Amino acid sequence: MSMIEDFKNEREELNGYVFKYAGKEMKRFFSLDGQMYREGAIDSATKELLGLVASAVLRCDDCIKYHIMQCVENDVSSQKIQEALGIAMMVGGSIVIPHARRAFKFLDTIIQSGEKLIKKEFIELLSVIEKILKTDFDTDEKLHSVCKLLHEKISYYDWVGFYLVDKDKEKELVLGPYVGEPTEHTRIAFGEGICGQAAEREISFVVQDVSKEQNYLSCGVKVKSEILSPIFKNDVLVGEIDIDSHVVNPYTDQDKIFLEAIADMISELF
Ligand code: SME
Repeated sequence: MSMIEDFKNEREELNGYVFKYAGKEMKRFFSLDGQMYREGAIDSATKELLGLVASAVLRCDDCIKYHIMQCVENDVSSQKIQEALGIAMMVGGSIVIPHARRAFKFLDTIIQSGEKLIKKEFIELLSVIEKILKTDFDTDEKLHSVCKLLHEKISYYDWVGFYLVDKDKEKELVLGPYVGEPTEHTRIAFGEGICGQAAEREISFVVQDVSKEQNYLSCGVKVKSEILSPIFKNDVLVGEIDIDSHVVNPYTDQDKIFLEAIADMISELF
């Protein structure tokens, strides 16, 4: 088991004891803790950095580890984490140094392990998708609900749709359910554009700036970037989940991991 899983499991186990014995006031305090770190005027990543600084000044190693983990899950760079720990040291003084040592070791172990972390916001969306897939809707309705959810909840997902492999025509994708502006590209041959290339090579594509892509089918001047992941059923390509954004360079590794996880879940519909 990985170090992060170990840490999470231990935390969950201990929380179990807390919830076994805690009264309602303590339970409320716990839920307040979760709510306090939710995105507000301050984004979640910055809130985690603030939590990290406070934890380091107060010298709680468990809390430091937790916030470092949350920072990594929220795509906070190690440069930002080290600057935050610098502020903690400035405020707390040299007594923070031993905690900073352990903090950097923990950060390094996470980075070296190359573990795929999915941020909390994406984990929550994955569980909503799981619920959508369990409804009595038909396949198209389910796919459409997934598009609607992602389009609504992720600000830079401006077009969300599915291209499905046409069973009756060789090596051709046909547009499935989508949310966003209508597109003229309702059929795409394998190899054509980003969707066709992804179908041919059976890999995810992350195009941070479509103006730099030669083999690209434009869906309008507003679209600046695109990301997509193939969907497989028993190792056979059945479709793709495709996202267009009106922003240049909006995606991180997290988006790719997230879309691949969705593609994995969606494959049960085929
Ligand atoms: N841009 C895609 C075409 C599909 S739209 O983005 C909806 C491509 O190059 O394949």
